Amino acid sequence: PRSNRGRSRERRRLLTHRLVLHYVVPCMNAYGLCIVDNFLGSKIGDRILDEVRRLEQGGKLRNGELACRTFGTNTAIRGDQIAWVEGNEPGCEHIGFLLTRMDKIITSAHGRLGKYNIRGRHKAMVACYPGNGTGYVKHVDNPNADGRCVTCIYYLNKNWNAKEHGGILRIFPEGKSYVADIEPLFDRLLFFWSDRRNPHEVQPSYATRYAITVWYFDSEERAEAKRKFRDLTATAQDRSTS
Ligand code: OGA
Ligand code: OGA
Ligand code: MN
Repeated sequence: PRSNRGRSRERRRLLTHRLVLHYVVPCMNAYGLCIVDNFLGSKIGDRILDEVRRLEQGGKLRNGELACRTFGTNTAIRGDQIAWVEGNEPGCEHIGFLLTRMDKIITSAHGRLGKYNIRGRHKAMVACYPGNGTGYVKHVDNPNADGRCVTCIYYLNKNWNAKEHGGILRIFPEGKSYVADIEPLFDRLLFFWSDRRNPHEVQPSYATRYAITVWYFDSEERAEAKRKFRDLTATAQDRSTS
């Protein structure tokens, strides 16, 4: 006979499968973005929030970086503080659990998210906007085919009131007449295509705003991006030695 734990795992697997098949996949393929509220429940959400606060209090968060730093200070562009987390570090056990659950959604959707073949992802980015009115200007996560195909964000903010605290994520879906305004609510999970279909901005935030972001890779685009990068590096080396 199966143990209770085995039965509850099986039940969760079926629930995830249904959520993916009946909601996440059709929603992504129709709108290019998808919101799942109450993703893990408040008990686990609280533990993740504790871990994120400890990272912040322990001085583990640094200014968010930009690929290109030609323009003076970063904070005019993005005002968040970040840390990269694998999920197996001491004190990050519940963040690790979150990553496992995100991965289960993605593996459960295998072969059904656009044309993508997702086989891996980036480390998690824990981000905090300190509430001093900074945000992140309009941008595309992956404008140049670096391999990232799905952006997945988990929000951790209780009693968030966008009228007072701002901090809305506004997505401007390419070629659409609407925008999607997403409040960074506690235990909310968001998916969207990472490429030029979804330019987005984080509006100025007037309260501490926490989120955990993961980018999933399309295996072919990622391999191609690595090849290109290697070729560029090779060219630079050829030049420097000639
Ligand atoms: C469901 C469902 C189909 C499948 O779980 O609601 O439709 O392919 N499942 O497992
Ligand atoms: C990002 C980003 C959105 C958010 O870090 O690239 O767009 O809602 N974050 O935190
Ligand atoms: Mn972004």
